[in-house]
Amino acid sequence: MTDPEAALGQLVRDALAAELGAAYAEADPLIRPSGFADYQSNAAMALAKSVGRSPRAIAGPVADRLGASASVAKAEVSGPGFINITLTDEWIAEQSIEQLADPRLGVPRAEPSQTIVVDYSGPNVAKELHAGHLRPTVVGDAIARILDHLGHDVVRAAHLGDWGTPFGMMIEHALDVGEQATYDLLAAGEFTEFYQAARAKFVSDPGFADRSRRRLVQLQAGDPEAMRLWRMLVDDSMEYLRQIYSRLNITLTDADMAPESFYDPMLADVCEDLERRGIAVISDGALCAFPPGFTGRDNKPVPLMLRKSDGGYGYDTTDVAAIRYRLTDLKATRLIYVVGSEQSLHLQLIFELARQAGWLVPPATAEHAVIGLMTGPGGQRLQTRSGEQVKLASLMDEAVDRAAAVIAERYVDPEQRRQIAEAVGIGALKYGDLSVARDSSYVLDFDRLLALTGNTGPYLQYAAARIRSIFARAGLDPATAAGDPIMLGTVAERTLALRLLGFGRAVTDVVVGAEPHKLAGFLFDTASAFTTFYEQCPVLTAEGDTRRSRLALCALTLRVLVTGLGLLGISVPERM
Ligand code: ARG
Repeated sequence: MTDPEAALGQLVRDALAAELGAAYAEADPLIRPSGFADYQSNAAMALAKSVGRSPRAIAGPVADRLGASASVAKAEVSGPGFINITLTDEWIAEQSIEQLADPRLGVPRAEPSQTIVVDYSGPNVAKELHAGHLRPTVVGDAIARILDHLGHDVVRAAHLGDWGTPFGMMIEHALDVGEQATYDLLAAGEFTEFYQAARAKFVSDPGFADRSRRRLVQLQAGDPEAMRLWRMLVDDSMEYLRQIYSRLNITLTDADMAPESFYDPMLADVCEDLERRGIAVISDGALCAFPPGFTGRDNKPVPLMLRKSDGGYGYDTTDVAAIRYRLTDLKATRLIYVVGSEQSLHLQLIFELARQAGWLVPPATAEHAVIGLMTGPGGQRLQTRSGEQVKLASLMDEAVDRAAAVIAERYVDPEQRRQIAEAVGIGALKYGDLSVARDSSYVLDFDRLLALTGNTGPYLQYAAARIRSIFARAGLDPATAAGDPIMLGTVAERTLALRLLGFGRAVTDVVVGAEPHKLAGFLFDTASAFTTFYEQCPVLTAEGDTRRSRLALCALTLRVLVTGLGLLGISVPERM
């Protein structure tokens, strides 16, 4: 099948070439949705100057040629030179039948496929995921799923913070508590308790503080026992992360962890390389790089700190090693960092340094997919009554509890109720993040997220569940509707079918700027078109070919919704 915008684009280009000369076969047809027809082309206005004719003088004959095409019902010039185009019902119906028969539902495969690193979630060992981790995790995962689906070679990378000074203290505390008890605490996500107890001893007990410092030195020197204990802390935390990711339906696996410690063996070499080439210099005893184009206060260049004066490496160094590794070892041609807006300067410095060092060379690109803040009702950071960051796990629990109370309460079977509440609660939370532009901040409001109307997860899940129940009542399997005729007898059917044909474009549109909310918006429009269709067009009580056609449209809608939500990482409960 062809998506309508692409098909019309080709027709407009052909008409331009026939009217104005072969050179115009490559012109931008400027197809846009229109309020007066299916689409409009703005090409005549754009080309008028270079052609030397008025826009209307170009639009008129082009519209005539378009009107003669079998797939176009009407093409009219309006205003200064817009061409309003309406497709024929037959063409739309034919494309819908092809879409129904297409396992990919019209989603193209990327040509060529690229190696793309998606750096997201950014968890830290022995630190609990809090509300602020939700968006970079959920948005990054949707981006990775979509790139995957388009056939790109996606490298998921969770830049796990597992290296640094607190580990000496945490190892000593783990020894005091005992290894099994440490596991029990950390695998359950009781990090704050663990960390605070360690910290309290560090402050109040000089003997403990001493041991901790010695342990850190041993760890950094690669002492096997220190390493074993450190590994234990990492493994215990991984156990917790696995549980959270699995409950959130996040595709990150152990193999996708790109922990800071992974880059440790590369740090000395990276520093040496940059210093030898004069890109990094010693400043106040520390090795620093000053990527061009960044000045802070008093017009001073902004540094990346590569090696502290005591010889230690930090967050900057790891990120420099990581970007070099991704570009030169993995040979990625696109890097997407799905990270909070507060790290914007840091990442811009890293990208600029990579350019300066000759690692980031076109056509390779690096981008910061900025994540805005999810806030409490007053626009402030989400916090508990005692002023702590809200844990991600409690956010999920609350979403599921509320979903159980609002949506799943009418199910008597407790197991069924639990499953539905889980899918709806988690789905609502994730969809809330995915339906707004990722860089905007938004207020967490469970009542809005869980509403059954509006651009919400439950509304979309409900539309899909409703279609499933239509098939259940008909005693039919939606999969067998493929190959049925599709006839577009009413405006509602036509609008729905035309909308569905835009699925492929909606998926590929996400990729350009790494913006999953565009797919969410498409799915919402689709579900709305379905709602109108279902209100106006009886399905099961219709007869013969009309019934079969409407069932086919239902089946197509179901597949588009389920596939689309799946690409966003949202599952659809069987019933709702
Ligand atoms: N672990 C980091 C943090 O909690 C986020 C990592 C983001 N990715 C990166 N390559 N720096 O702030």
